[in-house]
Amino acid sequence: MYRKNVFNGMMIALLAALGVMACSGEQPADTTETTQTDPVFTIGMSQCNLGEPWRVQMNDDIATAAAAHPNIRVIFRDAQNQTTVQQNHVREFISQGVDVLLVSPLEAAPLTGPVAEAYEQGIPVIVIDRQVVGDQYTMFIGPDNTRIGEAAGRWVAERLEGAGKVVELMGLMTSTPGQDRHTGFRNGIEGSEIEVIFEADMRWLQPNAQSEMESALTRFPEIDLVYAHNDPGAYGAYLAARAAGREQDIIFVGIDGLPHEGMVYVEQGILDVSFEYPTGGAEAIEYALKILEGEEVPKELTLPSRFYTRENLAAGGEWLE
Ligand code: FRU
Repeated sequence: MYRKNVFNGMMIALLAALGVMACSGEQPADTTETTQTDPVFTIGMSQCNLGEPWRVQMNDDIATAAAAHPNIRVIFRDAQNQTTVQQNHVREFISQGVDVLLVSPLEAAPLTGPVAEAYEQGIPVIVIDRQVVGDQYTMFIGPDNTRIGEAAGRWVAERLEGAGKVVELMGLMTSTPGQDRHTGFRNGIEGSEIEVIFEADMRWLQPNAQSEMESALTRFPEIDLVYAHNDPGAYGAYLAARAAGREQDIIFVGIDGLPHEGMVYVEQGILDVSFEYPTGGAEAIEYALKILEGEEVPKELTLPSRFYTRENLAAGGEWLE
């Protein structure tokens, strides 16, 4: 793989040099310098959308990590929350012959085929944050969403002293973090008298969370806590509660914990807690380089997570057990 890429890189450099000379009408005097140029590897990054700050952060993390390595260049594609667009992006990367494919899939099942096609054609594929079905990829990098959901459930059970009425605003349930944050949470509250009185799929989106919460507020005069699968969802729910004059009666719990989003909400007392969800962007570049250098990589890299409350924020949060 590495040798093929070195060769490709040399060919690209050589052709580029010849192209420049062809345009300027110069003769190839000496190609030694050109052929000694380091190979340039192309990494295709298929992002499912850039609507949430968290995804912008992931792309930034990838770009920053890649900037430290002049021998790689990253091509970014944004599917804008449309599965068919993302399927096309992956297939474009395959026909372009990228050296490594990074993909953060919108939905698990529909992206499984295109990811497997890349993998079968010998393109190393790193899946980030949301899973596909099966194991037709090189490596998965991401935090453990079941664990985060479970920790959130235990935190909620403790905060509500074992009983209370909860609204669960779920992430897109055709994506694995939505499924796992839900299952984990239900395990975490098991054995308590916490009742989930309302649940809805807000598809990770703040405006959807806000309108779902408006319905919940209309139907239920008593709501103790909202567990939202991400911070934009928790904030949307907070806005709905504030509009109804009920934000002081409700505790809001979110996930992502970005320094400029969830952590700020915690600091401002809008959220009681936010669970960190590291993007994996820097690790994706780190492992892409290992693959390009011919190193063996693990099938899965699980990233650690912590949670932030007003009490532990200054100390950098608390790591999940
Ligand atoms: C952004 C996002 C995050 C969430 C992650 C789950 O699109 O919704 O807020 O933690 O995706 O994949």
